[in-house]
Amino acid sequence: MERLYIQGGKRISGEIDVQGAKNSALPLLAATILTEGKSVLHNCPDLSDINAACKILSYLGCDVTYSGNTVTVDAANITNTDIPESLMSEMRSSIVFLGALAARVGKTKLCFPGGCELGPRPIDLHLSSLRQLGLDIKEEHGYLDCHRTKRLRGAKIMLSFPSVGATENIMLASVTADGETIITNAAGEPEIVDLADYLNKCGAKITGAGESTVIIKGVDNLQGTEHSVIPDRIVASTYLCAGAITGGELLIKKCNPTHIESVLPVLEQTGCKIITGADNIYIRAPERLCHMETVRTMPYPGFPTDAQAPLMPLAVIANGTSVFVENIFESRYKQVSELRKMGADIRIEGKVAVIEGVDRIYGANVRATDLRGGASLIIAGLAAEGETVISDIYHIDRGYERIEDNLRSIGAKIKRI
Ligand code: EPZ
Repeated sequence: MERLYIQGGKRISGEIDVQGAKNSALPLLAATILTEGKSVLHNCPDLSDINAACKILSYLGCDVTYSGNTVTVDAANITNTDIPESLMSEMRSSIVFLGALAARVGKTKLCFPGGCELGPRPIDLHLSSLRQLGLDIKEEHGYLDCHRTKRLRGAKIMLSFPSVGATENIMLASVTADGETIITNAAGEPEIVDLADYLNKCGAKITGAGESTVIIKGVDNLQGTEHSVIPDRIVASTYLCAGAITGGELLIKKCNPTHIESVLPVLEQTGCKIITGADNIYIRAPERLCHMETVRTMPYPGFPTDAQAPLMPLAVIANGTSVFVENIFESRYKQVSELRKMGADIRIEGKVAVIEGVDRIYGANVRATDLRGGASLIIAGLAAEGETVISDIYHIDRGYERIEDNLRSIGAKIKRI
């Protein structure tokens, strides 16, 4: 079983490139199913989740090549319509294939995505929206059995919550539907805009992506295209936290500072100096971090829930008390029990976490509870006194491309054992 070994106390300093966004690459890969030609996706991160998505596309009959950070998909011949449980369970977010399959082949059977470490992951908004577009969905024995007798038709869809995945599924199902679809209260994350950009380059007619109302005018078919995945805003935030917690100085490159405008002020509250360029961010940390004002996770452009866990260790060793409120997922504080093993003083009351800053934390044997919880432990390990060993790091490999090599290249003492 692989583990990460960290010798804490080393100052981070140097430059680092940010990888392409996992949460954009995944829906983009699903979107290639809609095209009857070849698509080339550049800046795709090299991650196990991306690997799993490519395996699903190959299983469906697409011709997929994944070399370096470029994925080429030719979706001319879809021969399978169901996604086997073995592939579905490898990646929870494979629900995003549902909309594209419903539109392209008209029937599909896939298993209910398992709950994941963040609590139950309901898909009620996905299902009710796709039913409004004319997809017949039977939920039985943990499977979704879907089919349509005729072409999907546009609809006015109001989302009770701006769900990222549901917004993506509606876009994917409606781009070739008959008529116009209007999504109200749509998610506005940068990944939604990236998906719309790709689909429009393929010939779709989508307007309003990134706003709360998205309009999709159905077209007859889509051609493949070439596209570059946007930078990963959560990975960028994670590296900034690594610089901040070690009293370091870091320039992160190939990122988009406008995508984390809600994260940068929080880092400045802790005493970090931040200078942003067009595609880079410079951070210089103080000797001792100050506590931050209340951090509330919110839909974009609010503070991203995915950055909550990586940011928490900064509050753990800051001077003063910090309060986090996790408004997006039901149980996204799994990393807290592991941080306590390192000496953190954190009290959880429902969705509120009260973090009393301590002078120092200590290396310990801990385990990654989920993707961003794992990143949280790496950030804590960088600042802890002594050695930290993190197990179950397969969670981390789902979202971070060679994180130990990148951190080692900027001064961290970290290795995979
Ligand atoms: C996407 O998940 C991301 N995953 C998540 O990143 C991210 O945390 C989340 O958006 C919020 O930004 C991918 O893009 C692959 P949601 P998604 O639908 O689409 C509830 C990471 O660490 N909900 O916006 O699943 C849901 O339970 C991952 O990279 C319903 O109730 O997020 C949650 O509480 C973790 N019914 C909230 O909405 C539904 O039908 C937000 O979910 C759908 C969602």
